[in-house]
Amino acid sequence: ASIAVIGAPIEVGTSEPGALMGPAALRTAGLVRSLADLGHAVSDLGDVVPDCPREARGLPAVAAWTRALSARVAASLGAGALPVVAGGDHSLSLGTVDGALRHCARTGRPLFVLWLDAHADFNTPATSPSGNLHGMPLAALCGEPGFDGLFADEASRPRLDPTRLYLVGLRSIDAGERALVTARRVAVTDMRDIDEFGVVAPLRRILERVGAAGGHLHVSLDVDFLDPGIAPGVGTTVPGGATFREAHLIMEMLHDSGLVGSLDVVELNPFLDERGRSARVLVELVASLFGRRILDRPTPVIEAV
Ligand code: ARG
Ligand code: MN
Ligand code: MN
Ligand code: MN
Repeated sequence: ASIAVIGAPIEVGTSEPGALMGPAALRTAGLVRSLADLGHAVSDLGDVVPDCPREARGLPAVAAWTRALSARVAASLGAGALPVVAGGDHSLSLGTVDGALRHCARTGRPLFVLWLDAHADFNTPATSPSGNLHGMPLAALCGEPGFDGLFADEASRPRLDPTRLYLVGLRSIDAGERALVTARRVAVTDMRDIDEFGVVAPLRRILERVGAAGGHLHVSLDVDFLDPGIAPGVGTTVPGGATFREAHLIMEMLHDSGLVGSLDVVELNPFLDERGRSARVLVELVASLFGRRILDRPTPVIEAV
């Protein structure tokens, strides 16, 4: 499929300024070029501009972004392209996942979401300790109350099924969202699981389930999924994140699965980065997801002993 790169310079979902420079830093680090070098037909659609005043804040501003991004992602998918959305803070996934859900409602494929993140991003306005919307997109997408006016035609919009959501890399969760994640039966692979079992076994289980259902997999990659030692350019670092090699392996497995239908790369804050290091790591990871490999052969299948 062709790839549509979409910039989403949003930072109203956070209290730490700088994420609006994320799309520019990802382009500078070679996002578009490296995908083209892999042989993909790539078009850079530029940055989305929300229909709201520049100084708008809070829910009304995030609602404008949500609607604009949802329309752009649904249109790209409808045209047969695979959208890669470069953020911008994680509230942008309100729009990208909503757009993918609307596309899937038309095609009849179930939508699955792989959320690679140190955080659960399942707060509601009632549980959030910070009030920042980048900590809430999944609760809103799954239909939790408290988000009036966020989505277009709220009553009839397709909602994310929390049992088709996979949180991978979790190591920081607030008390209220933890209760909600448990109550909604969201599948969690936390860092404890990754320490014990590695990334291969949990990822295989997820990909098998998506594949068996004929699903569209939306991947949302938050920079803070990675260990701050390799990716310091994010406002919400949490120690003990995924290593370079774990993250690459996940990307390679995602590529081999052929199931990824849309991707977000979020929370890059170039103002906090060190000479573009984090942006470069992210571009490398995206390249692995889109087929870069060390040798020109598929990953060998080794039977379990
Ligand atoms: N759980 C915290 C909050 O709700 C942090 C969320 C961080 N989210 C993110 N996308 N980086 O404020
Ligand atoms: Mn499709
Ligand atoms: Mn996040
Ligand atoms: Mn996070």
